[in-house]
Order: sequence, then structure tokens, then C-alpha cells
Amino acid sequence: MTDALPSTGVHVSVDATDASATAAKMILDLVRSKPNAVLGLATGSTPTKVYQYLIRNQEFDPIDWSYVTTFNLDEYVGLTPDHPQSFHSFMRAELFEGLNLTEDQYHLPPGVHDDLASAAAEYESSILRSGGIDLQILGIGENGHIAFNEPGSAGDSRTRVLDLTENTINANARFFESPGDVPRTAITMGIGTILEAKQILLLAFGQRKAQAVKDSIEADVSKYCPASFLQSHPNVTFLLDEDAASLLNR
Ligand code: F6R
Repeated sequence: MTDALPSTGVHVSVDATDASATAAKMILDLVRSKPNAVLGLATGSTPTKVYQYLIRNQEFDPIDWSYVTTFNLDEYVGLTPDHPQSFHSFMRAELFEGLNLTEDQYHLPPGVHDDLASAAAEYESSILRSGGIDLQILGIGENGHIAFNEPGSAGDSRTRVLDLTENTINANARFFESPGDVPRTAITMGIGTILEAKQILLLAFGQRKAQAVKDSIEADVSKYCPASFLQSHPNVTFLLDEDAASLLNR
């Protein structure tokens, strides 16, 4: 890992491990300089190495996580927080337990609620009450989705319930026993919600992400590639491996 941290723009690392170490260092630097930082977090395969790095860092250069607040992007509708495939369970196992975050420090939208629309509005309010997200970590779907904002999502969309595309359901089937078990709806921060983060860090690894990465960065802004709305944000860093960057004009 290099000492100089990347600034806004596109940064291609030798591999996902190197990019993840860089992302983790950016997060650690933020929390060191702002102990009560508000982090936006993602699930999925992409950020797991970042989370492992943050946990490992506590062994040799511990920092105080007790004032940090986190907000996750999304959750499957119909899965309770203790469901093994819920994003709540994923985050507890991959990060929160390792950093000893308490339940009042972390937030995910609820997958089960009597009134999901008001729960979504309340999620927006709690982000605002926290002072807003300082650094938002994002992955990207093969279809260009960010969080679960599937193609067709508006650039000013807010936290809401929406139907997942077949592409996303198939891509996430690997986390479930059978494809039929993958929930078909999710509650997700909107693109407008994400764009309010002060800083955004999008990670993408592997050839499967190369076209979505290219469309996000080099194509016109379009609701058919939700990540292309990031072009309007003043502080976005793309951390890519060589494969994810392979279709970019460089
Ligand atoms: C996860 C999320 C999704 C993923 C995307 C990539 O909270 O919101 O947008 O970031 O589907 O998933 P992976 O990293 O599994 O390829």
C-alpha cells in the first residue's frame, strides 16, 4: 500500500487486496481526525477485505470506534435482523462484532416493519440527525446499481422499497441455499440520499464489473446506469482493480 492516499478520481490498484487496504486507510484516517465520524457502509463481497483490514488494524494500531456512527445502504424486505442471510447479520459478523460496535452505533434499514414507507422516511431522518454521512462506501452491481437502486431509479430518489431485477437476484443467489430463497424486494437508500454524503468511495473488483464501471465514469449520466449519477458529486473516488478498470479509456 502506498502512503499517499488517493484523492477524487479513478485509482487503479494492482489487485483487490491493495485497493481494500487503501480504502481501509482512508476510513482509519477519517476516524482518527474525526472520532465521531458518520460512515455509510455496504454489504456484498466487495467491501469484506476492507472490513477485515479495519478489524485487524485494532491488533496493532487500535483506534477508538466508540464515537463512530454507521448507516448501511440497504436490507432485504422480509428478513428480520437475526435472519442468517440478512444484511444485519452480515454486518455484525463481518465488521460490527470485530470492532465492538454497540447496537446504538450502527443502523440498517429494517427488512421487516408494519409500515416500511414510514420506516424509510425515519431512516432518512436519522441520517440527518446524525449530521449526515461523512464517507460513504459503495460497491456496484453488474447492471450499474448502487445500493439497491436498480436501473430506472431517479437521481433524486430517497430511501424506499423497490423490486430487485433478475440480474441482482441471480448475482446474490450465491449467499442463499437456493435461488428461490433470494428476496425479490429490498429497502434501500436512494441515489439522492447517497449523493448527500460528503465523500464517496466506490470499490469495484473483477471483470464482471468492468462494463458498469465504464458506463458510470465515461458514459452520459443516465438512470439506466444508476452509478453514473455519481458524476455530479464533487468528491467521489473510484478504487478499482485492473480487471474492473480494463474497459476504461486510459
Ligand atoms: C450492498 C449493495 C450492493 C452491492 C453490489 C455489489 O449493500 O448495496 O449495491 O454493493 O450489488 O455486490 P458485490 O460486492 O457482492 O459484488
